[in-house]
Amino acid sequence: MNRREMLAASSLATAGLMTAAFTPVASAGRHGGDTENGGRTLPGYDADKDEFVLPHLPYDYDALEPHIDEQTMRLHHGAHHATYVRGLNNALDKLAEAREADDFDLVKHYSREVSFNGGGHVLHSIFWHNMAPPNNGGGGEPDGELRELIDKSFGSFEKMKAHFAAAAGAVEGGGWGILGHDAMSGKLLIIQGENQQKLTTWAITPVLALDVWEHAYYLKYQNRRAEYVENWWNVVNWSDVAQRVRWHM
Ligand SMILES: [Fe+2]
Repeated sequence: MNRREMLAASSLATAGLMTAAFTPVASAGRHGGDTENGGRTLPGYDADKDEFVLPHLPYDYDALEPHIDEQTMRLHHGAHHATYVRGLNNALDKLAEAREADDFDLVKHYSREVSFNGGGHVLHSIFWHNMAPPNNGGGGEPDGELRELIDKSFGSFEKMKAHFAAAAGAVEGGGWGILGHDAMSGKLLIIQGENQQKLTTWAITPVLALDVWEHAYYLKYQNRRAEYVENWWNVVNWSDVAQRVRWHM
């Protein structure tokens, strides 16, 4: 099978993946990637196929109701997230072709495609696992080491929440509110992620990401982003956030 045939097969596989994405399958591991991703801390890559894949949701599409509606979750995961996965694989294939042909005329375009689509794939993969059904793992407040780190980094949990909600609410256009572990200071920082890839400091690993692109909330909340952010706290899975901090400390 030559490279083009491989690409065609990959496209067909991705199309099949999008259909399959509408049938949620519970992850074998709590974080989704434990068994389907060779133990890596983020799901979304198939080592056997050597390609990025759409990870399963760790709950049903209607599990976050009433705060995030089923239709939004189906479209968001099965269509929007899948598009980033496809775009990332395609950009990497194109760059491999460029190396093969020793022709880098489009390296700028495809490098940007890797960052945009790769950023989207990573942040969505974290976002799904950052959430859990309300009153069944979602909501409440963090405790233990995570609570102490939040207090140390922001003064208090309430201050962190207010800061995070303001940052997420003020993202210009499409983007993310991100709570990240900073490898330099060892503390948590809040940043705004514009689009899928802009405004990072590079030392920050996202541990809690909130998608504030309109596709994440418009069907239910229309233009009321602040209301979406306020309700989203009811589905935040703090034990997942704590696990992500432990992986990077
Ligand atoms: Fe999104």
